[in-house]
Amino acid sequence: MIDVLLGLQWGDEGKGKIVDVLAPQYDIIARFQGGPNAGHTLIFNDRKFILHTIPSGIFRENTINIIGNGVVIDPVIFKSEIDKIKVLVNPKNNLKISSKAHLILPSHRLLDAAYEQQKGGNKIGSTLKGIGPTYTDKYARLGLRVGDILSENFKNKYDILKQKHFEIINNIRFDYSDYLIDNMSYSDYEKAWFDSLELLKEFDIIESEYYINNAFNAGKKILAEGAQGSLLDVDFGSYPYVTSSNTIASGVCSGLGVAPNKIGRIFGIFKAYCTRVGSGPFPTELFDEKGKSLQKKGNEFGSTTGRPRRCGWLDIPALKYSAMLSGITDLIITKIDVLNELKEIPVCTSYKIANNKTQILPFNIAKNKIGINFEVFNGWNSSLTDIAHINNLPKELLDYLKFIEKQTAIPITMVSYGPDRKQIITFNI
Ligand code: GDP
Ligand code: IMO
Ligand code: MG
Repeated sequence: MIDVLLGLQWGDEGKGKIVDVLAPQYDIIARFQGGPNAGHTLIFNDRKFILHTIPSGIFRENTINIIGNGVVIDPVIFKSEIDKIKVLVNPKNNLKISSKAHLILPSHRLLDAAYEQQKGGNKIGSTLKGIGPTYTDKYARLGLRVGDILSENFKNKYDILKQKHFEIINNIRFDYSDYLIDNMSYSDYEKAWFDSLELLKEFDIIESEYYINNAFNAGKKILAEGAQGSLLDVDFGSYPYVTSSNTIASGVCSGLGVAPNKIGRIFGIFKAYCTRVGSGPFPTELFDEKGKSLQKKGNEFGSTTGRPRRCGWLDIPALKYSAMLSGITDLIITKIDVLNELKEIPVCTSYKIANNKTQILPFNIAKNKIGINFEVFNGWNSSLTDIAHINNLPKELLDYLKFIEKQTAIPITMVSYGPDRKQIITFNI
């Protein structure tokens, strides 16, 4: 079967950690969408790695990792990830890349910055990794793909696309002379980009849809790893404050080339509270000390950009919405340790909006303008870092978990209580 793991909130739910935990149970881990806007953190043996493009099974040497056709790749960021990983493992042994994955060009990075600048006060808060412009070119049928780097006239194709980009950049008068792409000038970045292509070529570039379907037919276990979160989905998220790909389960079919009837369990991962980095609606956002305290205890700073993450309480209608969109079969809750010392834990059960019986998400309502009905739970007031077994979980925590299960009608099968690989309780996987 092809199982799926994806985020149910606005990203950073702990996908990387859980994929790393689950990876030994799978033969293949495959990323199906997004690009280096993602930052997936893995912590084990006192080491920390943040992966952006590479699937989170890379440190499990018996697991093949695939960057699927639905992903967009910046060769420079890819190279910097490889350089860090190779201290521990040789990724050439277990990483394969789809020939159909699209390339993020240096000029896509400039376009991203240019469009954000143009938006002024309505900025998306993009990670500025070139995601939007690269997917735009994919759908405009202009993009360059990984497979193209092997063709003889690649440089020519590159120059044609680059020229199109500069026409736009010049047209909207974006001054890129001082603009730094990850601390490099445009020309230095472009040079690094071409250098990094050489590394990309050393990897196995494959028709990953065949590879994955053949593996499936041979009885191999495959896990599709999502990036971003369901509420950042380009169709169903808080548009336009979203990313440019389908982050929900449907993205697996188009992002890897697998049919829906091959999909098995769909793990939906969420934090015990909510966070959001970048702009856009966030119904349960906290603007007070409580929000600050969650941010501090949860170390809520973006893995990719370092930006502080906005924090708020768990939002059940949003969770149900995300679960509905992907047909979640199992819930995984993370970061419950961040709530350890709280006396009371509020959970949003509904929004105070007239004529909104179905609790449609208030994505069109301006920030801070919406009333929330909360159910308040007693805290468990104990350090879960010492607890590693379901049999000794505090009653208050069990009550909290049961409430979420009841509201969503989906079982919680894993509880994460710290960033380390070992800090996990598995119920019935
Ligand atoms: P991802 O994008 O979904 O992979 O999540 P990120 O890695 O961007 O952000 C999750 C952050 O929370 C990382 O710093 C993780 O190391 C950390 N983390 C993951 N699970 C837990 C947990 O259960 N408790 C705590 N305190 N931190 C966690
Ligand atoms: P992971 O996989 C959190 C947010 C950005 C911005 C919006 C659009 O680590 O969960 P983009 O760069 O795609 O144009 O940005 O989406 N965003 C994320 N937020 N986690 C992520 O990935 C994100 N990837 C993009 O902050 O608001
Ligand atoms: Mg992240």
